[in-house]
Amino acid sequence: MTAESEWWRQAVVYQIYPRSFADGNGDGEGDIRGMIEKLPYLEQLGVDAVWVSPWYPSPMADGGYDVSDYRDIDPRFGTLADADEFIADAHARGLRVIIDLVPNHSSDQHPWFQAALTAPPGSLDRARYHFRDGRGEDGNLPPNNWPSLFGGSAWERVTEPDGKPGQWYLHMFAPEQPDWNWDNPEVVEEFDSILRFWFDRGIDGLRVDVADALVKDRDLPDTPQEHDSEYGTWKRFEGSPFWDQPGVLLIQQRWRVIADSYADSPQGARVFCSEANADPLEKLVRYVGPGQLHSTFNFDHLHSEWTASSLRHMIDRSITAHQAVSAPTTWVLGNHDSARVASRYGKPITGRVYTTLGASEETKHWGAEDLERQPTDVALGRRRARAAALLELALPGGAYIYQGEELGLNEVEDLPAAVMQDPSFFRNHGKIRGRDGCRVPLPWSGTEPPFGFGADTWLPQPADWAQITAEAQDGDPSSTLNVYRAALALRRTLPALGEGRLLWDESWGPDVLCFDREPGVSCLVNFGADPVALPAGTRVLVASGELVGESVPSDVAVWLAR
Ligand code: BGC
Repeated sequence: MTAESEWWRQAVVYQIYPRSFADGNGDGEGDIRGMIEKLPYLEQLGVDAVWVSPWYPSPMADGGYDVSDYRDIDPRFGTLADADEFIADAHARGLRVIIDLVPNHSSDQHPWFQAALTAPPGSLDRARYHFRDGRGEDGNLPPNNWPSLFGGSAWERVTEPDGKPGQWYLHMFAPEQPDWNWDNPEVVEEFDSILRFWFDRGIDGLRVDVADALVKDRDLPDTPQEHDSEYGTWKRFEGSPFWDQPGVLLIQQRWRVIADSYADSPQGARVFCSEANADPLEKLVRYVGPGQLHSTFNFDHLHSEWTASSLRHMIDRSITAHQAVSAPTTWVLGNHDSARVASRYGKPITGRVYTTLGASEETKHWGAEDLERQPTDVALGRRRARAAALLELALPGGAYIYQGEELGLNEVEDLPAAVMQDPSFFRNHGKIRGRDGCRVPLPWSGTEPPFGFGADTWLPQPADWAQITAEAQDGDPSSTLNVYRAALALRRTLPALGEGRLLWDESWGPDVLCFDREPGVSCLVNFGADPVALPAGTRVLVASGELVGESVPSDVAVWLAR
């Protein structure tokens, strides 16, 4: 059993994307009041913690990841008093609260960036961000060739207070998201203070946005990389001047000291989960372990195809790499940046191919464009996603559930261009659809949109979600929602699940994954077309789909008591 102070090593964390979760004030957008109203739902679901995507004041140029005040709440979501109430109510129900820290960039509306715009080149105000003169005769070319992750150049030219075109500033994401200069001690100290502000308010941890990007090579050299700046397919490479710089680890060690300094508070030390895309895994795990951040999303899990072979290689490699640094693995099937798992798994190609060496070179850089144009069999995808949930929740370590996964929500693939909001859609001139399709507000109740939201939702919901609202699934023991509830309830009571060892049962053929968790629990997933017989002497604890007599059909997972 994991000690209470180490709760994060096996926690199941539910991601709330506030704008799309639940509507408390009836305006068609989610808010903190709605989040408070749904806490009983989350308690009943059986998760251990919630992670709330940014709720700070923001012009929403990137769905809240453009923060204009790190110490307040956006009025569309509520007030600081609402946030306090949410934290207190969650705690009273035994749920931990993690919020998002966005330290790589602010909003261009942040007072410090606004001050930088009116200050002269070379000023202390500009030194908080990355301002540089342009290249070319009139300085009309960007300072280097870095691409923005959302498409186009990573540099934007400003108009100086005298009305003339002037310096350029760096934005690795949208132009409305200028990158902080982490070589500036003022920035470092400002974030120390932001961490303390929220820890003092009672939050249990922080998810760190693009945690491996904060520090840039001070010389800002051109990158040798062949640009492919489409969201999610950016090639990471050895020697990159903007990812994975050594200074990143120093900043995170500093944060760990701050989080550990809360060890004697009633809640204990605070924790971090890093969002880093460092590749390969051996590099990723340098960010976690004693003295470093606590955990990091295992995006190989999210990227893997739905086959026994790829998942087995991915699981083995992940566990080995994390064990080497004494960190738990953090499994993740989806988030607000990726197509929903119930749709991905319903496509002819379900993800990347993994071997003993990691993702195959051929499939490694597949991104949205490669996958989204394929047709989707949602019923198949949903069936597999349910099996995937049982597999995920039986693996050693922590797990994240993206809101709506527990309802089997699919990606909304036919949103009209007129409603799209994701900057990656616009900056790629519509070449990729972007991330709005996984951000459509949840269907809670009723038989037609807005399904429990108070007004038309900010992204339209599909009418056929009527069948899978939380209300419709609540009383149906075979629903996706009730499979999640049953699994999470078991996970709480069975000491075998959570942290600990995983032992593969090698007696199965290539289309079955079966492993034991001690004491006495096994997980079996059938990836093949034909049903497989349940192992003798076992009892089914929970199944992701209906069994055929004593057999587990295709794309179904079961937990077994031995
Ligand atoms: C967040 C994205 C966001 C980006 C820039 C990420 O990885 O999850 O939603 O667009 O960081 O902040």
